[in-house]
Amino acid sequence: MKGLILSGGRGTRLRPITYTRAKQLVPVANKPVLFYGLEALVAAGIRDIGIVVGDTQAEIREAVGDGARWGATVTYIEQDAPRGLAHAVLISEAFIGGEPFVMYLGDNLLNRGIAGFVEEFARERPAAQILLARVPDPQMFGVAELANGRVVRLVEKPAEPRSDLALVGVYMFGPSVFDAVKAIRPSARDELEITDAIQHLVDAGLEVRPHVVDGWWKDTGKLEDILEANRLILDTIEPRIEGTVDDASRVEGKVIVSPGAIIERSVVRGPVVIGADARITHAYVGPFTAIGDRVELRDTEIEHSIVLEGARITDLANRIEDSLIGRHVVISRLPVRPSAYRFMLGDNSEVSIRW
Ligand code: DAU
Repeated sequence: MKGLILSGGRGTRLRPITYTRAKQLVPVANKPVLFYGLEALVAAGIRDIGIVVGDTQAEIREAVGDGARWGATVTYIEQDAPRGLAHAVLISEAFIGGEPFVMYLGDNLLNRGIAGFVEEFARERPAAQILLARVPDPQMFGVAELANGRVVRLVEKPAEPRSDLALVGVYMFGPSVFDAVKAIRPSARDELEITDAIQHLVDAGLEVRPHVVDGWWKDTGKLEDILEANRLILDTIEPRIEGTVDDASRVEGKVIVSPGAIIERSVVRGPVVIGADARITHAYVGPFTAIGDRVELRDTEIEHSIVLEGARITDLANRIEDSLIGRHVVISRLPVRPSAYRFMLGDNSEVSIRW
């Protein structure tokens, strides 16, 4: 069985972070989202993995390399433009080479893994197996309609969903999916939709097995979802202190302090992860916060946030909450009058000041 991870696409909903970085590399608990998918495939016994890449391929290749770190072999498959999930399947036919395969969307996260589903798929060999999750906002996803436990209809982002069962971004296919992706036509958003390809299998009378996942599932395409995924993963960390914590600091709850990190005169209340060589001085880092490598926090309070590597935040009067702060961002307070805000923000940045 092979694996296919989709790591092309645009990531418009996470701008400006995704102007400079692939959305699949945004870290959750200090680890790129994409790595969770890779690990899930490897844990299910799949080691021959193709990664579909687009404009951001250089940084994906740099982050993942040849896959040896996971005991896997990675083959990169270039997609000229994000022409849809079914298009990504279409261009991967030679790599898949007639084997059954698992397709994993590079921005999806599932806490329970996929090993059980993969095992069942390998044993039973239906034409396809899809995973579903009940969601409050099905119009944001591909939606499945079931009757007597069988898939009858799949619609991509319907304005009026006929069920609350969203398609999770993990799909298992046999070779018949290639006939389906060749038969369908681009959708209204001009993409070859995987939902249409699966509908094609259903219409041809082939077996498409649905499974509702237990545990949580997150598509990390939006800020709130990234923060929630961060919260859910941080809840599961094993604490360890490999950096330095001075006597004037308090580290409470589940906290990872990575090598080279220094915590001085500060309170860190887990679950929190602090990256390598970060420096936390006279600061408060509250629950559900991931502080990246080489971040500097001084005279600052922050919680329920993600700070990417190399950012520097100093001397803020109020606590930072619910935030995603990009690499090498600088936020500071100047002790001069008249007081005023001074910004240098990239396109699509968002600043909210709460009184
Ligand atoms: O997350 C689950 C949802 O994923 C499903 O419920 C939908 O049915 C499915 O269409 C998909 O919806 P999104 O609109 O969220 O897909 P997105 O454009 O974000 O692409 C998902 C991943 O696939 C992402 O890592 C980028 C990558 N991708 C996407 C396209 C369109 C590619 O590699 N190539 C592409 O052409």
